[in-house]
Amino acid sequence: MESIRFQRNEEAARFLASYYETPPLLFVHSYGCQQNVNDGEKIQGVLTDLGFGLASRPEDADLIVFNTCAVREHAEQRVFGNVGALKGLKEANPRLLIAVSGCMAQQKDIVEKFRQHYPFVDLVFGVNAIDTLPALLCEKLQSSKRLLCTPVERDEIVEDMPIRRNSAFRAWLPIMYGCDNFCSYCIVPYVRGRERSRKSADILREFHELVDAGYRDITLLGQNVNSYGKGLSEKIDFAQLLRMLDAVSGDYRIRFMTSHPKDATPALIDTIAGSTHISRHLHLPVQSGSNRILAEMNRHYTVEDYLALIDYAKRRIPEMTYSSDIIVGFPGETEEDFRATEELIRRVAYMQLFTFIYSKRTGTKAATMPDPTTHKEKTQRIARVLAIQEEVVARLGGAMVGKTVRALVEGAGREAGTQTARLDNHMTVDFAGNVPEGDFVNVLVTGVRGAQLLGELV
Ligand code: 5AD
Ligand code: SF4
Repeated sequence: MESIRFQRNEEAARFLASYYETPPLLFVHSYGCQQNVNDGEKIQGVLTDLGFGLASRPEDADLIVFNTCAVREHAEQRVFGNVGALKGLKEANPRLLIAVSGCMAQQKDIVEKFRQHYPFVDLVFGVNAIDTLPALLCEKLQSSKRLLCTPVERDEIVEDMPIRRNSAFRAWLPIMYGCDNFCSYCIVPYVRGRERSRKSADILREFHELVDAGYRDITLLGQNVNSYGKGLSEKIDFAQLLRMLDAVSGDYRIRFMTSHPKDATPALIDTIAGSTHISRHLHLPVQSGSNRILAEMNRHYTVEDYLALIDYAKRRIPEMTYSSDIIVGFPGETEEDFRATEELIRRVAYMQLFTFIYSKRTGTKAATMPDPTTHKEKTQRIARVLAIQEEVVARLGGAMVGKTVRALVEGAGREAGTQTARLDNHMTVDFAGNVPEGDFVNVLVTGVRGAQLLGELV
């Protein structure tokens, strides 16, 4: 797979410096997954590199970018609502530019909707156009016309893009882009294109930079990290990449997401078990506990395959915790199918569960499947999942009481005077203290409230 190096657009830098009398301010709002948040940080990087400052509120900005998500209809509606709400700002500040990027911008019909119904949106650019943003922005500023780019596929990876991260201790590190799996419900392969991996040397270089800059929590990103390496000229797989990164010395943790169960192997679990820095937590989205539905979803594994891997991991790494995504109400899901999901959730005992009602995405295979279950039934099923999950989480949390754990301070806790810190297994603990964010602390777990561990600094 080809990759190119980012080139700073000097002409754009000169133009922007002459166009704006005072340094312009940028406000980026990213929706959806971490991949998208990371793209938002690159948008910030590319533009601050050209002289933009960052605004903390949209009201202060000269350029607002909505970096959007298309995975569920609800996310799209929120974007349309939020973009619509900017109309007043635009009237108050004629210099303000409004841009839309991300996964929604990769869909022709959505770009068309912005064109027809949102006349105050000035610029639309796709997920693979961030490096060309300076040129697009200049083009827009030099003409009175709106610039709504037609979605294109572009497989090239752009390395060395400037980045302005939102945190000084937690970082996202993409190792691959796109997805080839075509799960029947999912829009991602259509908007983010074919799967392509970054060269390990490029990943390692960025990883070193992060560790050297003091990042403590580094999450490797990809739609399916376990198929890392396919299509590269070097011979490397995900477990090898993990070992290569884990060998870098420093006080940090590695996380990764997302693992597709069809490609996750006992070798991956062994790699985690033998590592120094890899977090003892596995996000392994199962989506459904019914083999019939899994087949309809085009997931390429059975409940038995999935549980065999989880059982292996539980034996090999007893302290490991698990999380998952569940889709409730996939077309044709019966009460029996759903009960199988309930059973699986109880059996695995996930520390965290992301539960979604199926959302029809035009253009995907599932969008053509009959879906007779009512929305009311689906909402009731979601409530049933949440009730099971509450029990499970309380039990897992209870088992932590009395343990002293090492945790990374992330910010303010729920109650005044408390802080919250993340354990290696991804649980969080609240404690009274005043420790700098991004420091590791030792905490004695003294209790649980709901899903929240409570503790005292040791
Ligand atoms: N409807 C509901 N949930 C979906 N997801 C992906 N596509 C859809 C959809 N059409 C969920 C899956 C995936 C997570 C990121 O979003 O559970 O793992
Ligand atoms: Fe969508 Fe499936 Fe790819 Fe995940 S693996 S992004 S659910 S197609």
